Amino acid sequence: MKPTIIFLCLFFSLLSNQSRAQNQSCVSESFSSNRLYASCNSLPYLGASLHWNYHPSNGTAEIAFRAPQSASGWVAWAINPNGSGMIGANTFLAFPGSGGGVKVYTTTFSSYAVQASDVKDGSLAFAVYSKQAEYANGYYTIYATLALPSNKTKVSTVWQASTQLQNGVPFGHGTGDNELSKTSLDFLSGESVSVGDNSRLHRKNIHGILNAISWGALMPLGAIIARYVKVFKSADPAWFYLHVTCQFSAYIIGVAGWGLGLKLGSESIGITYHEHRDIAIALFCLATVQVFALLLRPNKDHKYRIYWNVYHHTVGYSIIILSVVNIFKGFDILEPVKKWKHAYTGILVTLASVALALELITWVIVLKRRSRSSEKSHHGANGAHGYVFSHNQVV
Ligand SMILES: *[C@@H]1O[C@H](CO)[C@@H](O)[C@H](O)[C@H]1NC(C)=O
Ligand SMILES: *[C@@H]1O[C@H](CO)[C@@H](O)[C@H](O)[C@H]1NC(C)=O
Ligand SMILES: *[C@@H]1O[C@H](CO)[C@@H](O)[C@H](O)[C@H]1NC(C)=O
Ligand SMILES: *[C@@H]1O[C@H](CO)[C@@H](O)[C@H](O)[C@H]1NC(C)=O
Repeated sequence: MKPTIIFLCLFFSLLSNQSRAQNQSCVSESFSSNRLYASCNSLPYLGASLHWNYHPSNGTAEIAFRAPQSASGWVAWAINPNGSGMIGANTFLAFPGSGGGVKVYTTTFSSYAVQASDVKDGSLAFAVYSKQAEYANGYYTIYATLALPSNKTKVSTVWQASTQLQNGVPFGHGTGDNELSKTSLDFLSGESVSVGDNSRLHRKNIHGILNAISWGALMPLGAIIARYVKVFKSADPAWFYLHVTCQFSAYIIGVAGWGLGLKLGSESIGITYHEHRDIAIALFCLATVQVFALLLRPNKDHKYRIYWNVYHHTVGYSIIILSVVNIFKGFDILEPVKKWKHAYTGILVTLASVALALELITWVIVLKRRSRSSEKSHHGANGAHGYVFSHNQVV
């Protein structure tokens, strides 16, 4: 169980590093017309930052949103008063004007299926007293004065930067960081609070950890135990119990991670990762069959045992291969967290090296035993009763 503890520590330390990666470099930024802001937050994605003054006396805020982008691209900052993410976002869009300069639109998105003709300048759910935008030195900056919706100081914010335009208006953006660029922001404390979508990211990470540990590490480890520990006569029933314990814990943790994944999938409106989901469902079925097949296992000497063994190995190895494939698909969905992919690759390489080393050792032992037992039978002493290692026991 020691390696499991090491994996757990490794993953949790990566997780905590990830959430601490806040960098308040925004304090050194300056603005045109000598605008000054009392607070700022270096937003966690797209290199953007938000600066503001909040007036509790009238519930208004002056904000400046800044993000790097090419002059022909666009940026956006939004408050989502009743939800999070793009649907329902009350948005300030800054993009190149037709006669030079920068245009600012205020617009609300009610679906992901936006038409270029939907992108119009309109009113928002809250009062906007002023809006303006400029482009300089590779950065767009949006300036606005607005009343925070319902006088709440904790608001759900979304931002975006993209180069995609259609008919001269912002239209479409990429995936990865461009889908993660949202946070709940406290205009009083200045903190970007981990609620709403950040809790979703958090649950995605937990889903990843549970599944990488169970399907991705414990199950291959259990297979290694079964294949290599049983070679030692003295470990005879012990390897079996170790193998069953390992695979059964992997199954329990794996089903928890799988269930969390299904829940995340059902919550994600408009985005379905079909392959990741289908492989996951296939894995759950195969693993469940594998657990129940244990109950149908014929006796060691039964003539059908060989068929059961072939079935058990085929399904077992398929589960391991599919699991590894799906874990890497999962890492691609959690795109920004590259470190995890590297950590898991490290675990996989370690397991594979251990398996390779054990494979070599096993064959050496088997060949030695075979030559010894053939020597014995040559001398006619107890050969038939001696322990003869068969091919069966290695495969
Ligand atoms: C913060 O970000 C700035 C630029 O984005 C970078 O130069 C600086 O090294 C970062 N500081 C830390 C502590 O990560
Ligand atoms: C917010 O609160 C302030 C002070 O109590 C009040 O003057 C203002 O009208 C309120 N704004 C909204 C939008 O309710
Ligand atoms: C809100 O109050 C602040 C200071 O109390 C003032 O500077 C600002 O102009 C007010 N904004 C609006 C829109 O009334
Ligand atoms: C948000 O929800 C409240 C209460 O459900 C409703 O009164 C308000 O109009 C909604 N605001 C928006 C922008 O949809």
